[in-house]
Amino acid sequence: MFDGETDPRVEKFTESVSFDHRLYAQDVRGSTAHARMLAKTGVLTDAESLQIIDGLEQIASEIAGGSFVFRTELEDVHMNIERALIDRIGDVGRKLHTGRSRNDQVSTDFRLWIRDAIDTIDSRLVDLQKAFVSRCERDEGVILPGYTHLQRAQPVLANHYWLAYCEKLERDRTRLADCRVRVNQLPLGTAALAGTTISIDRQMVADELGFEDVVANSLDSSSDRDFAIEFAFVLTLVAEHLSTWAEEWILWSTSEFDFLTLPQAYCTGSSIMPQKINPDVLELTRGKTARVVGNLQSLLVLVKGLPLAYNRDLQEDKERVFDSTETVEACLELTAAVVARAELNREVIAERLDRGYLDATTLMEYLIGLGIPQRTAHEIIGGLVAVAMKQRVPLADLSLSEFQSAHESLDEKVYEVLGVKQAIAAFRSYGSTAPTEVAKQVAMWRERLKS
Ligand code: ARG
Repeated sequence: MFDGETDPRVEKFTESVSFDHRLYAQDVRGSTAHARMLAKTGVLTDAESLQIIDGLEQIASEIAGGSFVFRTELEDVHMNIERALIDRIGDVGRKLHTGRSRNDQVSTDFRLWIRDAIDTIDSRLVDLQKAFVSRCERDEGVILPGYTHLQRAQPVLANHYWLAYCEKLERDRTRLADCRVRVNQLPLGTAALAGTTISIDRQMVADELGFEDVVANSLDSSSDRDFAIEFAFVLTLVAEHLSTWAEEWILWSTSEFDFLTLPQAYCTGSSIMPQKINPDVLELTRGKTARVVGNLQSLLVLVKGLPLAYNRDLQEDKERVFDSTETVEACLELTAAVVARAELNREVIAERLDRGYLDATTLMEYLIGLGIPQRTAHEIIGGLVAVAMKQRVPLADLSLSEFQSAHESLDEKVYEVLGVKQAIAAFRSYGSTAPTEVAKQVAMWRERLKS
């Protein structure tokens, strides 16, 4: 029914092979399973099926070896491979597309690709967790100021910081695992939109390709890309976590903070200011989060309002997911390298721990322990901090009479909770920065990440 030449601009406009060629291995795997299944259900003879599988294998190795020429006029990776098969084995090749359509084919290929990508990203997340945990030996006992509102708040152990990132990444891992369950459903056999009259065995294909289950509704699977969007969302949260880390370490590496020396192999110089060592890798980790967020946004807008079932709009999904995957993978790799190599400037950090009254809250809790209501204790310590600030000294430098005039039940024991080291030691609660709690957590993480 289709006749007449296509405008060459349409060809260029509609093609996807320039990017979906990346699905070639998945396409061959899917087609191989499909051909094997068609032989089992008697649609193909065993000989035909073997001929197809053999041809597909040769094509896959040609593509892998770089000698295969993808043709834009054949539109996408699926048509390119199918045409090459027909050119190679003749009419038998024309039978491969029985009982399927490119609509279920592309969804299958994409799910296979995302499934692999999930596994790769997951192992990069573990590598990064290992980089954080490997710091814990080196940084044992180092105390850092903890911040809220980027104002000095309470003291925390450096290891408590490192494990905070491990926890965030762990939640990303569980989100990936959860997303994988929904990705891992086979659409093949749902054909164009309504299924097929051909005798097929979808469960057999699912088993062969390692899918957990088959998609139950053909209209649903041919119309949706929620599995891809969900993956893009998890990648976005990973990128957000990395961006937070990058921002924090950029700040920490400034002369103003001077907490951290970044490894020079991961910094760059300035073309004009000879003294500069710029944290470009961290800045770009923060910056690339923008494109990952943008990709998610694109996907969400892409599917908004699409009527059931397949629409060509869906072709726009792949580049966004490829880009987010590549971007996040690169960010994870470089972050792990930087985390493992950066050095805390311990002396500078220690020298300034007296600033910011990091022990004030511990002192307040000490007062609460003496039976003073929290609100009252808060006021009393607020008053003491004001006295100390006026004298520009830490709380520990105030005299006993100054403490006693703030509240009569304060005696020389106050000096046992003052100062950052003692304040840290006073923590008790599960999940806190208490040295014993953090040590338990470090041990737990070491055990968990043992490969
Ligand atoms: N290249 C298309 C995509 O990425 C798959 C082909 C479906 N095309 C079609 N005309 N039904 O979604």
